[in-house]
Amino acid sequence: MSDDGTTSTDDARTSEQLVELAKRRGYFFQASGAYGGVGGFYTFGPQGAALKGNVEDAWRERFAVAEGNMEIDAPTIMPEPVFEASGHLDTFDDMLVECPDCGESHRADHVVEDNTEYEDAEGLPIPEVEEIIAEYELVCPACGAGLADQAVETFNLMFATNIGPGDAQPGYLRPETAQGIFVEFPRLKEYARNQLPFGVTQIGRAYRNEISPRRSIIRTREFTQAELELFIDPEDDEPDLSAVTDVDVTLYPASEQEAADGGHVETTIGDAVNDGVLQPWIAYYLGVAREWYASLGVDMDRFRYRQHLAGERSHYASDCWDAEAEIDGNWIEIAGFSDRGAYDLSKHDEYSEDRFTVFQQYDEPRTVERAVVDPDMSYLGPEFGGDAQAVVDALETKAERDRAAFAGESVEIEVDGETHEIPVAKTGFAVEEQTEAGEHIVPHVIEPSFGVDRLVYTVCHHAYREDEVDGEERTYLALEPEVAPTFVGVFPLQSDDELETRARDIVDELRAVGLSVTYDDSGNIGRRYRRQDEIGTPYCVTVDYETVEGSDASGDGRNGAGGDGETLSGTVTLRERDSTAQKRVAIDDLAVTIEALRTGELTFDELDG
Ligand code: GAP
Repeated sequence: MSDDGTTSTDDARTSEQLVELAKRRGYFFQASGAYGGVGGFYTFGPQGAALKGNVEDAWRERFAVAEGNMEIDAPTIMPEPVFEASGHLDTFDDMLVECPDCGESHRADHVVEDNTEYEDAEGLPIPEVEEIIAEYELVCPACGAGLADQAVETFNLMFATNIGPGDAQPGYLRPETAQGIFVEFPRLKEYARNQLPFGVTQIGRAYRNEISPRRSIIRTREFTQAELELFIDPEDDEPDLSAVTDVDVTLYPASEQEAADGGHVETTIGDAVNDGVLQPWIAYYLGVAREWYASLGVDMDRFRYRQHLAGERSHYASDCWDAEAEIDGNWIEIAGFSDRGAYDLSKHDEYSEDRFTVFQQYDEPRTVERAVVDPDMSYLGPEFGGDAQAVVDALETKAERDRAAFAGESVEIEVDGETHEIPVAKTGFAVEEQTEAGEHIVPHVIEPSFGVDRLVYTVCHHAYREDEVDGEERTYLALEPEVAPTFVGVFPLQSDDELETRARDIVDELRAVGLSVTYDDSGNIGRRYRRQDEIGTPYCVTVDYETVEGSDASGDGRNGAGGDGETLSGTVTLRERDSTAQKRVAIDDLAVTIEALRTGELTFDELDG
């Protein structure tokens, strides 16, 4: 594993094998294959969709339910003014360099990072990237033609569309789910009874027209994010760190990245806060997320938190730490934890017609100076007709935000895109002393933002194993029970009506207690085990002749034969995926036993049999 992007052959082989397995077993594969497929779009097959759903449920449980946050579900297409305000229209760009020979487009910063010692080319100005490409004589990754004389250009990553017929109302597919939360803030704060701090989560699709999508589902053009926007009063709100203070973390702060001999810092959340390495809110979520990732099976020896360097931060962030997982010898960002400050709500407050503030009550009332207007309507009425009220509103806002504008003979305001000069004498402008119970503040935003697809990939990659069983090579996914798409495979040992009926009865019984179960009677038993091992199914149940011999087919209920309402009896073989060990379990105890294995109340070793 390396920090500089080098890839060892063995590691790369794991990804190749995993991508093959994912296609073969229904995890994920390139979409629209019948039409040749198109880069950056993936379909999650039956196993992948189930695993992804389990990851999303686990995220919802931890970051929405357990934290008392609200979840919303907003549209994925939003009108252009949203992205003018958010800054995405102007700044959500990547650097593009086009090959003069084959015409393939590449991310210029990736070409630099992949082939030079520069680790953070994304933060460099374009002319510098052009110079590096020329100096190192970098070539097109697709065809090998020289890129030295090619211009590097900015390319906006948003997918544009038109809302309704014609092009009168441009819109964009959201590049982050966050904007769907920010634009609804005026309503959401009411649901939170105007009390900070409060958090809003959303799990949904985001779209980015990536220049060069790559590495399977790691960099795609449509992906799922799970985001939490926590709205806080930066003066007053502090997290309770007690639950995370002892959590061990591997940190890679900006200062270490910039130092010649810098390296990882092994510490705890509590110490990192005390040492000033982490600010408390970010620290809280790094601690929570570290425990959560571990519970899903992310290998903590291949996991770290890396702070963004100044040039790397998004336009909205004042501080950002990425959760990174090691894949193929490279560190891949799987989540970002940003301090977005007042950036987003201030922008929407400025650009929209709504207020993106929260009224914060003072402990004691305060006397303050306030700029107010009391416009002369006998002047504004005849002058502006139906727009007079809009002019009054604009004057009030102007007085609040820019009292110096009233210093001259006239004041300039804008109504519906038109500029008007109003004589100050007609505005009734004054600065008054007022006693106030509180003030409107723009909350700050702390944002943990998780990429679900990259997490699915990481969980599968870190669970990928190869071993030998009975002299045969075996591949399996050692998935944690919480995310495994199928929890139990049930097989009749052989093609036999009685065994098949009994196996199907067991399937019904296990499904009835909410377990995810698959029935498989195709191929020999060894093949069926291998198939479930590759899928990552933690347990398999085999129904054999001991099962049916040990049961009472008379249906007297004591040793019942299964079927309508009767209890099943006899024993089955229960096989554990990782060890391949097998134990015999009474059918009557099977559902309770497997459920206890799923929740962790029982381990396979503790099981008699
Ligand atoms: N709202 C903040 C935000 O969108 P980001 O770092 O751009 O921050 C958050 O994205 C996460 O979304 C990343 O950590 C990554 O896991 C995931 N992500 C971003 N771009 C992606 C892409 N093209 N394909 C797959 N996942 C992506």
